[in-house]
This record gives sequence, C-alpha cells and structure tokens, in this order.
Amino acid sequence: MVSRDCFFFVMGDALICWDFKNHKQYQLSAEHAKRLVSIVYDRTCNDSNDTLLKDLKHCKVVVDATRDESTWGWDILSRIFHLGTKDVALENQPNNAHEWATQYLEHCTDVLSETTPTETLGPNGHGIQLPTSNTTDEFDRILRQRATVRTFHHSPIPMEELGRILQQTLGFVDGRTLSSAEGGVEQFAKRRSSPSAGGLNATEGYVYVANVEGVEPGVYLYDPHMHQLHWRNQLAPRLGDLLSGQHFANDIPAGLFLTSRFDKLWWKYEHSRAYRMALVEVGHVAQTFQLAATASGMNTWLTGALNECSIEALLELENASEQVLFFVGCGYSDGSAIPDCLKSLLKNN
Ligand SMILES: Cc1cc2nc3c(=O)[nH]c(=O)nc-3n(C[C@H](O)[C@H](O)[C@H](O)COP(=O)(O)O)c2cc1C
Repeated sequence: MVSRDCFFFVMGDALICWDFKNHKQYQLSAEHAKRLVSIVYDRTCNDSNDTLLKDLKHCKVVVDATRDESTWGWDILSRIFHLGTKDVALENQPNNAHEWATQYLEHCTDVLSETTPTETLGPNGHGIQLPTSNTTDEFDRILRQRATVRTFHHSPIPMEELGRILQQTLGFVDGRTLSSAEGGVEQFAKRRSSPSAGGLNATEGYVYVANVEGVEPGVYLYDPHMHQLHWRNQLAPRLGDLLSGQHFANDIPAGLFLTSRFDKLWWKYEHSRAYRMALVEVGHVAQTFQLAATASGMNTWLTGALNECSIEALLELENASEQVLFFVGCGYSDGSAIPDCLKSLLKNN
C-alpha cells in the first residue's frame, strides 16, 4: 500500500512525494508516478522483478500493509502538519553549550544579512491617544518582571514554591465549577486559571524536577485533582539533549513539559481547526506558569524546539492521542537573557 505518511503535490511539471514523517521529499518520474497510481487502484504491489516497485519500496513510499496502531482523530491536515514538524532532526544538533553558541551566532549572522521585516504600524502618531496607566500594583510588577533568562543558579527551589506554581498553573480553581445547568458534563466541569478549549482541560503537565528541596529528581505527572506528583521516570542526563541541543538550559532546576490530550479534543471537535486550539491552550498555560514563577521571585525559560521522540520515551507517552508541545522552566537567576556560553564567545570574537 502507499504509505499514509506521504502526501503528493505538483511543482512545475513534476509530481513530488513528501514523506512528512521522515522529512524526505522525492521527485517522481512519470513511470514511478504511473506505477504508484496502479498500486492505488489495482493493488498490485507484490512483483519482486518490478524495478519501479522496488524503488518505491526502497524510499518507503510503498510499504507492506501493516496494522497501523496510531489513530488520528482529526482529518489529514493536522496530521501532516503535526507529524511533519515533529522530530525535526538538526543536521548537527549541538552537543554542548559552546557548540550551541557557535551555531546560534552563525544563524544570527545569516538572519541579519537579510532585510528585516517591517513593523505593521510605523510610529506615525496619527492614532487616537489613549491614557497611559501609572499603576504599579503587584500584577503590574509581575508583568514587567516576567522575562526569558538563559542562566540559572544552582540553588534549589523549595517544594512549597513548586507546589504553589503548579497549583496556580494547572490546579483547579476552587469554586469555579461549571454546573450541569450550564451545559457542563461532570468530568469537564473543573476550571483552571487559564482558559481551556471546550473546557476539556486537554493540557497536561509533566514536571521536570532536577533540583527541588524534598523531591527526588525525576519526571512526574502532575495530578490537578489531588495536587500530587506521580513518578514517571529518571531524568535524562542533560536537558539540552531533549531540547535541540540548547545546553545552556542544563542547569534549570525545574520545569514543565506541556502535552495535549488530543483524544479529548477529537471527542468534541472533528475538524483539524481544533488542533490550533490545542497549541493556543498550551500557550495560555505556559504564560500562567511564567507569571506564577515570576511572582515567586524566579525567572523562566521556554522552548518549543523539542526532540519529541526522546521526550515521549521519558514521559512514557505511548500513542498519538497525547503529544508533547512545549517546555517551560523556572529557577533563580541573575536575570541574564544571554547564556554564559554566548557571552564568552562574544567576548573572544
Ligand atoms: C513560542 C515561543 C518559543 C520560544 N522558543 C525559544 C527557544 O527555543 N529558545 C529560547 O532560548 N527562547 C525561546 N523563546 C523565548 C523568546 O526568545 C523570548 O520570549 C523573546 O526573546 C522575548 O524576550 P522576553 O521573553 O524576555 O520578553 C520562545 C518564546 C516563545 C513565545
């Protein structure tokens, strides 16, 4: 059968096959294209002397019909996008902080050599002038203080602080329960401090604990019902190996891998548009985590550059119905946005 991990499109006068799961593209000759069509309609794919078929099998465009265990509850659009942007292998994933800094500097040089995009509105001064707020209340202070940092002290986080941040981020808010009169199903009546698509609370948090007082280092699933941590796994030796080689993050004392239970969204919303909602919901939760950690006197770091395969093994995610989407970390810091490895490279250049 033709692999369900491929899609086809026309570019100029060629038919292109994009194996989105394995991140490979092939330009098909007319003969290969015709052979492929015959496989779709006539299901003739067992002739061992057929060189066209051999080529298509070799590239895994045609595969043996195996039972596909991975259900996908939306239409094909989101499947192509999600799998096609997952496990994007870096050609040379940095193996340490110095390699990361070198590659990042090269990347910045390349980007800056291109014309910068324009702002939506230039400062033309013709808009309606709004009053400026001069409040400096606690909320305002936290908003101003929230910033992405890339250096972390080795000091541990007290367990109470971690508990508070998790409760504020993923815990359910007392007294905010949707009644059945409001159309609620009991299972999905609970509310968090962040909004949730369809009220399903599809976002789950797996807590990364490297240096928290009184908690054994490891990865835990957070239970928002009981406000408890459930042991999942030992830590990977270096966090950066899971996050596209961003090794400056290795010292982060605690964090959250945010996943989405796609199956909850599949249940309520059929169209791939709901996939976007999963991403947006995780973004809300990540922001709440950052504000909660900032209110605790910490700084935060975040990334979506994930090595999903390795993270899935760590979190013990077993099928497509729950997918990891983001990581947010927190800890005490000197507030520097530039990691030490990049600072020393800049100094020596
Ligand atoms: C969706 C998203 C993905 C990001 N990914 C990374 C990342 O992979 N690595 C990193 O160091 N910072 C990452 N950042 C942080 C941004 O670089 C940072 O927010 C930006 O420079 C603005 O700085 P501020 O957060 O201090 O205001 C990400 C931010 C967002 C919103």
